Amino acid sequence: MSTYYLTTPIYYPNAKPHIGTAFCTIGSDVQARYRRLQGYDTFFLTGLDENSLNVERQARNQGKDPQDYCDEMAEFFRDLWERLNISHDGFIRTTEEHHKHAARLLLQKCYDAGDIYKGTYAGWYCLPCEAFYADDDLVDGKCPVHDAEPEWTEEENYFFALSKYQDRLLAFYEEHPESVLPDFRRNEVVNMVRGELRDFSISRANKTWGIPVPFDEEQVIYVWFDALTNYITGVGYGRDDEQFARYWPADAHVIGKDIIRFHCVYWPAMLMSAGVPLPTTVWAHGWIMFRGLKISKSRGTDVDPFDMVDEFGADAVRFYLMREIPFDQDGIFSWESFYNRYNADLANDLGNLVHRTTSMLARYFDGVLPAPGGETALDASLRDTAQSAIEGAEQGLESWDLDAALDSIWTLVTRANQYIEENAPWELAKAPDQRERLGTVLYNVTEAVRILALLLGPYIPQTADAMLDRLGEPPLAAGVWQHGLEWGSLTPERTVTTGKPLFPRLEVPEFSEST
Ligand code: MSP
Repeated sequence: MSTYYLTTPIYYPNAKPHIGTAFCTIGSDVQARYRRLQGYDTFFLTGLDENSLNVERQARNQGKDPQDYCDEMAEFFRDLWERLNISHDGFIRTTEEHHKHAARLLLQKCYDAGDIYKGTYAGWYCLPCEAFYADDDLVDGKCPVHDAEPEWTEEENYFFALSKYQDRLLAFYEEHPESVLPDFRRNEVVNMVRGELRDFSISRANKTWGIPVPFDEEQVIYVWFDALTNYITGVGYGRDDEQFARYWPADAHVIGKDIIRFHCVYWPAMLMSAGVPLPTTVWAHGWIMFRGLKISKSRGTDVDPFDMVDEFGADAVRFYLMREIPFDQDGIFSWESFYNRYNADLANDLGNLVHRTTSMLARYFDGVLPAPGGETALDASLRDTAQSAIEGAEQGLESWDLDAALDSIWTLVTRANQYIEENAPWELAKAPDQRERLGTVLYNVTEAVRILALLLGPYIPQTADAMLDRLGEPPLAAGVWQHGLEWGSLTPERTVTTGKPLFPRLEVPEFSEST
């Protein structure tokens, strides 16, 4: 069986997860669920980046031991991912012993390859980024990502000889255009690497928090070197050779655009140095903006994902983010668009389709699905739309165009509702000689609902299972996209139930300018 290994970034636990981190995790979850439904042996890794100075400072500011603080914060992440139905197979924390061991192992390999040397670093350090900046990287003296004042830092560190890898990196991007996606991000990376490629520091003189450098216990491993290593330690590097051989190299690292340099320049060079194969793709998404600012833990532009899930349910949050925010560009979160999407797409289009279909079956056939009769042009057009929705969904998901895949799926939702209008089952029901036609129409629209449940499985898994349950079908299972998407697989004579509306309409609040 083919394997598929994908990862999210590991998040800093110096604040609770927010909607931006949820976005990245949900997008990755959609892909992981899709791969499982396609029958891949899938491994989906997420976790926490704990050995960072910003985490240590935050803990000490609160008078807490950093490890206790991380343990507390980890629960918020686990809890949110559970509430959002994130289907990760691994949750790595970089303070775990096996990770520490493997991070040291990787660094030792780079050292043995002659790529690590001692030098003095003098430069600006941005704590939220955990990254060094030169004078000309700063914008008005501030970090270009966080708009925060960096700290002047001067210390003796170990460096990784990144400059040695310039040619090999450029050749790698050239030979593997899928290595950085979307394409325009790869162009940014190529330009970065074509310019001056500075060696980067891989250790810090912090003895209180972090993983000791294997060849100098006076220093700890720089948090980005340590953090990137999670992608291999999370699937057994230095611990479980069998698991490592099974899943590595990763098929996809999903990241935000602000951490491209670390993933697309530093990480491949580190792996080349240590003689470890390179991941297939790094997919960089954009940022969610809210009231004109990037949503982030430090800026107070927060939309609380915990509250959102409590109020509207996991699927509504997952659906909104995947439908409204493109997975390659920045997108805007607004409450107005949330309510619009919920009411228009989920309550009206999808919810009504399921409700009308099952209610008509109850009304006209006592809830027992009739067998279809001969096919008319209208029936064929519904079947064709289902086929092209399946193809569009697969294409979009394969190419990480997660919102385009959803657009395709929606063509079937729309067509199925139109099909009901065009065939007017309520009129057919009045004419006894149209009984067979009525049965055919209701069979076809029920079949469309079944196919929609499978297609929506990666996005709104709870709703998909609820839809299948109403149709008397088993819940989503691995491999079902390979054998279950054929039109006409739904066997007649089964009992279909109606149930409550899947998405009761929301009353829309008054919106002020700022929402
Ligand atoms: N710990 C590092 C990642 C190490 S991976 C080896 C880190 N952590 S973070 O918590 O600051 O950010 C994690 C991810 O969240 C980044 O990919 C970042 O782009 C993403 N997002 C943070 N705010 C976001 C939005 N407002 N919108 C979308 N993604 C956002 O960086």
